[in-house]
Amino acid sequence: MAVWKTISTSVEMTEQLGKAIGEAVRSGDVITLDGDLGAGKTAFTRGLARGMGLPSRVTSPTFTIVNEYNDKDGVPRLFHFDTYRLSNCDDFYDAGLDEYFDRDGVCAIEWSSVIEEALPEERIALSISGNGNEREIKITFTPRYQEAEMRVRETMEKEGMRFEDLGM
Ligand SMILES: Nc1ncnc2c1ncn2[C@@H]1O[C@H](COP(=O)(O)OP(=O)(O)OP(=O)(O)O)[C@@H](O)[C@H]1O
Ligand SMILES: [Mg+2]
Repeated sequence: MAVWKTISTSVEMTEQLGKAIGEAVRSGDVITLDGDLGAGKTAFTRGLARGMGLPSRVTSPTFTIVNEYNDKDGVPRLFHFDTYRLSNCDDFYDAGLDEYFDRDGVCAIEWSSVIEEALPEERIALSISGNGNEREIKITFTPRYQEAEMRVRETMEKEGMRFEDLGM
């Protein structure tokens, strides 16, 4: 397990972080995103999709709960959830949304704390806080993501993106 802290001072920086993580994830991975309205969860996911090489621009899935993004060949690669409008896990299970965890692709879940009990323990968990243009972003990589963490670390160091490794 690894925990990092990084500061973003612009929406572009948050997207750049998403891109670095998007370059490191693979099918079956789960990324959870928590933080208040307007924290930057969708902005991060926009970068994530770009890092994964997906052609479409990410928009908020608030009304549909989940949006699917395909690669250039039309294969679904990213499932972008916003569970803000769900009351709890029961809503999630009733809609059969947990089946996405078994599909080929990456799941990114905004407001994941709403469905906490339905989440896999293994995930990259982001919690975003702050206001104005400044955001403090805490990132937890569980053991499954050790390799992804190394790749993100390399990208961030190469691109001069600063972060603090809080260890674990
Ligand atoms: N450092 C920053 N990182 C991300 N967004 C920022 C930052 N500074 C300002 N912003 C602004 O904050 C807003 C973030 O919006 P975004 O839709 O990504 O938030 P969200 O967490 O997905 O919100 P919601 O809970 O409503 O889905 C944008 O308007 C963006 O321009
Ligand atoms: Mg959003």
